[in-house]
Amino acid sequence: MIALLDFGSQYTQVIARRVRECQVFSQILRYDTPAAELQALGVQGIILSGGPASVYAEGAPQPDPAIFELGLPILGICYGTQLFAFHLGGKVVASARREYGKGTLQVEKADCALFRGLPTKLEIWNSHGDRITKLPRGFRIVAKSDNSDYAAIEHPSKRFFGLQFHPEVAHTPRGREIVRNFVDGVCGCQPTWTMGSFIEQTCAEIRAKVGDSRVILGLSGGVDSSVAAVLLHKAIGDQLTCIFVNNGLLRDGEAEAVQRLFGDHFHMKLKTVDATARFLKKLKGVTDPERKRKLIGVEFVRVFEDAAVSLAKSKKGRPFKFLAQGTLYPDVIESVSIAGNPASLIKSHHNVGGLPKNMKFELLEPLRQLFKDEVRVVGETLGLPKEVVHRQPFPGPGLAVRILGEITAERLKVLRAADRIVIDEMKASGWYYKVWQSFAVLLPVRSVGVMGDERTYESTCALRIVESQDGMTADWVRMPYELLATISSRICNEVRGINRVCFDISSKPPSTIEWE
Ligand code: XMP
Repeated sequence: MIALLDFGSQYTQVIARRVRECQVFSQILRYDTPAAELQALGVQGIILSGGPASVYAEGAPQPDPAIFELGLPILGICYGTQLFAFHLGGKVVASARREYGKGTLQVEKADCALFRGLPTKLEIWNSHGDRITKLPRGFRIVAKSDNSDYAAIEHPSKRFFGLQFHPEVAHTPRGREIVRNFVDGVCGCQPTWTMGSFIEQTCAEIRAKVGDSRVILGLSGGVDSSVAAVLLHKAIGDQLTCIFVNNGLLRDGEAEAVQRLFGDHFHMKLKTVDATARFLKKLKGVTDPERKRKLIGVEFVRVFEDAAVSLAKSKKGRPFKFLAQGTLYPDVIESVSIAGNPASLIKSHHNVGGLPKNMKFELLEPLRQLFKDEVRVVGETLGLPKEVVHRQPFPGPGLAVRILGEITAERLKVLRAADRIVIDEMKASGWYYKVWQSFAVLLPVRSVGVMGDERTYESTCALRIVESQDGMTADWVRMPYELLATISSRICNEVRGINRVCFDISSKPPSTIEWE
């Protein structure tokens, strides 16, 4: 296993992914994790991430100095490299600004283990920030770049390496091989981290933890809860009960699809609660987006609790001991909020709510070590269809965040019909799986149109099609006009209540993906 100490780089999770692509488990840990803890974890090598700080800045994140005495190989990336100089007796010159840019690396010591099998000239993605001006003792220069005379350094006997560029990003095309050389070649890690082994091991762990107790899981039909459900079902079969809450804000055919897949196909114990009326009653007359979200969150918990209580009563003496959730690794990584890395703060609002707080369950989170693409592989391995495993994200509050103004049964019907057309056309044209999200939004704007000989006065719908890596930033997709034309004319012709379609050409930031 490789420990990745996080000093606040925006790329920390990308590095962790690169290591796992070598089929070696990697764990992101706080930058100041004590050396003894790393040793206890059985770490075979350490990577020090980049970070926005300057090593000399007040409060700059520092590692436990004892990590340099563990005898383990260490790879420093950018800020991580400066830490060698700072802690082991070199010199670093501070720079006020951090910039990135393309560059060329000239490898001068081809015997360096990091560059084994690679050409001596490499395209790289530089990080222009603080720079080393004097090497710490025992280190040598391995490669130079147009940006730095110390682009790659190493201490051969201690197996310490420092890079002044980012091997983990796509702009460093051979960077994966550099990471692999470190993980396999230098640290000697065996490639044992596969999703097949993960499934076997996790099922055994679930069985050991759960014993003969019962487990409840809120199934949303999204990727994470679906994969968690199938994994748990494989491990404990009928001891798992899934609750699917139809909040009346789902897409066309969604509730039926969940029943078909999990109930009929996988033969899971599935309790579907149709709470449409409850939700719509709560939402009557509400137009404020924050209030909508809050009401939906609170109501969800109530419905879920009611269902869990009534299920528990129906099986006397066998209450649910565990609540399972599809929490993923990015949700559990203890984020390092260092100035300049606000990512962790933006994210949290989507993950609040949805959890019964006053029920006494033990939590079961079988996916908490996995990244999203690993979860998808697990899902596929367990036999979930592509439509589920690769589906686009769909927000918990459902179509409520895509209907501006009041949510009524009638407006839901209109949006569902438009959304169905968007999904069908995106799938038919092969675009659905290429983009992050594609959907229709119903606006509280009516305008004049013509239909045959008649004048219409109906709603406008916006089309939102974006690409994104993680939902934090996004850009609108430059779609072919023909496809936009097909979607637009089908919506205007087939959906009663919409006579105008607009295409949203805003990026995030400053806009968000959902309109709310
Ligand atoms: P925004 O609209 O904030 O959305 O740019 C970013 C991503 O998050 C999804 N989203 C949600 N997901 N519960 C969720 O599970 C929510 O309340 C929620 N709100 C937005 C959105 O679809 C996009 O992928």
